[in-house]
Amino acid sequence: MSKQFDLIVIGAGPGGYIAAIRAAQLGMNVACIDEWSSADGKPAPGGTCTNVGCIPSKALLQSSEHYEHAEKHFADHGIGVSGLKMDVAKMVARKDAVVKQNNDGILYLFKKNKVTFFHGRGAFVKSVDGVYDIEVSGAAPETLQAKQVIVATGSRARPLPGAAFDEELILSNDGALRIGAVPKKLALIGSGVIGLEMGSVWRRLGADVTVLEALPTFLGAVDDQIAKEARKAFDKQGLKIELGVKVTDVQSGKKGVSVSYTDANGEAQKLAVDKLIVSIGRVPNTEGLKPEAVGLKLDDRGAIVVDDECRTNLPGVWAVGDVVRGPMLAHKAEEEGVAVAERLAGQHGHVDFNLIPWVIYTSPEIAWVGKTEQQLKEAGVKYRAGTFPFLANGRARALGDTTGMVKILADAATDEILGVHIVGPMASELIAEACVAMAFRASSEDIARICHAHPSLSESTKEAALAVDKRTLNF
Ligand code: FAD
Ligand code: NAI
Repeated sequence: MSKQFDLIVIGAGPGGYIAAIRAAQLGMNVACIDEWSSADGKPAPGGTCTNVGCIPSKALLQSSEHYEHAEKHFADHGIGVSGLKMDVAKMVARKDAVVKQNNDGILYLFKKNKVTFFHGRGAFVKSVDGVYDIEVSGAAPETLQAKQVIVATGSRARPLPGAAFDEELILSNDGALRIGAVPKKLALIGSGVIGLEMGSVWRRLGADVTVLEALPTFLGAVDDQIAKEARKAFDKQGLKIELGVKVTDVQSGKKGVSVSYTDANGEAQKLAVDKLIVSIGRVPNTEGLKPEAVGLKLDDRGAIVVDDECRTNLPGVWAVGDVVRGPMLAHKAEEEGVAVAERLAGQHGHVDFNLIPWVIYTSPEIAWVGKTEQQLKEAGVKYRAGTFPFLANGRARALGDTTGMVKILADAATDEILGVHIVGPMASELIAEACVAMAFRASSEDIARICHAHPSLSESTKEAALAVDKRTLNF
């Protein structure tokens, strides 16, 4: 006998589990299926984000940052440390414990909201008269039925052709988060978000890290001025970044990995490392979903084709998060999940794709929302720019972290804020003020007139807003 639901959500990453909870809050009888298992075979909902993405990477970034502070920066504060030791196994175990807290938290939230959870793989079987049959394969196979289905099956790491992941020597994000001891030499292919975050973790812990990037520009999607400032900081830290390279061959053996490539000058190079992380982007996950069983349309990248409201080509089937177009970010997946659940309940769910913040959790952190200066130039928009360096911020000086700046771009005629870009301490938290301001279509003058606590890093945002009108007070 099939079990009947109002809505079946396939995938319990941030897109799926949040959609399931919101739909249950709105009165629907919801099933959520997820196949992720922890090492002991137990359900581990939360998807890439919780298990091998946002959460574990931030746990290791935090631990490695503490280590680097103790090693290099405590002395500036008059604190001497002797016998500093690193226990990578404990660091990784702590990270695993943080992941488990999040897995358990989601199971608790499912119970609290009366979402029925199924551990296993969900696949389309057929649709008859607008009702979809979804088969759950796993320890306890089941068939579920519903008129509405949300696919939130996420993404997985893209391998480099000819260099399959073995998670021992050639690592995806998964293996990169459970390296058991600090490699002497580490290479990363791709200087995108994972390349910089994971490169930072292992550099801080003592690895000699080289990042090989195909494009000639560093962080091309980031505002040029901010990317340059970040690059300066990474160079100073000893993170070696080579741009414009073409990787020609990867060989792994007993001694480690050998990467052959052509550098930006066209010279052939060879790099021998203990481990290689490949972080060249991610591909949508539709493996095992059997989209062909119901005629669900995919594009040539394998992503599920959706409109602006996450509707697929099939009535009653929706798709959200990494498995569809748009940035592969947890909060984007969540927003889409909530919006679809609300649409199903007859409400007007909405995602403003121009207001999705980005954060790269390196040190300095890089965060932005809205348009970059180069995008405004390209679009011929007239704007005014204001910047304020953390060097001139009292709290940053007290913290001992004065790298970077806040930059605000505002429309030249109306003063509406069009983009905010931050490189520096706690950029991940500071960007929230910019999101709020832009959601309310604030002008730079609005921010300039708001009282900000002193001393705080957020005063730099206010000063950057004053700088748009060329009237900073502290610089
Ligand atoms: P996922 O989180 O991938 O979840 C999909 C789930 O569906 C998985 O549990 C999968 O097992 C399950 N599934 C797939 N197919 C089936 C099936 N047929 N049946 C049942 N279950 C299935 N984003 C940020 O915003 N901030 C960050 O700091 C950040 N850090 C990251 C760090 C790393 C190393 C990586 C790799 C990613 C990071 N991301 C970050 C991106 C973020 O993880 C993704 O954007 C987010 O997880 C996408 O959510 P999702 O729900 O679409 O998919
Ligand atoms: P990415 O798209 O951020 O970066 C990939 C980089 O690899 C690009 O710079 C690209 O030019 C380069 N590249 C591609 N092919 C290459 C090749 N053959 N040789 C050398 N370089 C090559 O992808 P990444 O870092 O794998 O991360 C995937 C996604 O996961 C991110 O785009 C982001 O959406 C998400 N993520 C988000 C985080 C955050 O929000 N803090 C953290 C980590 C990941």
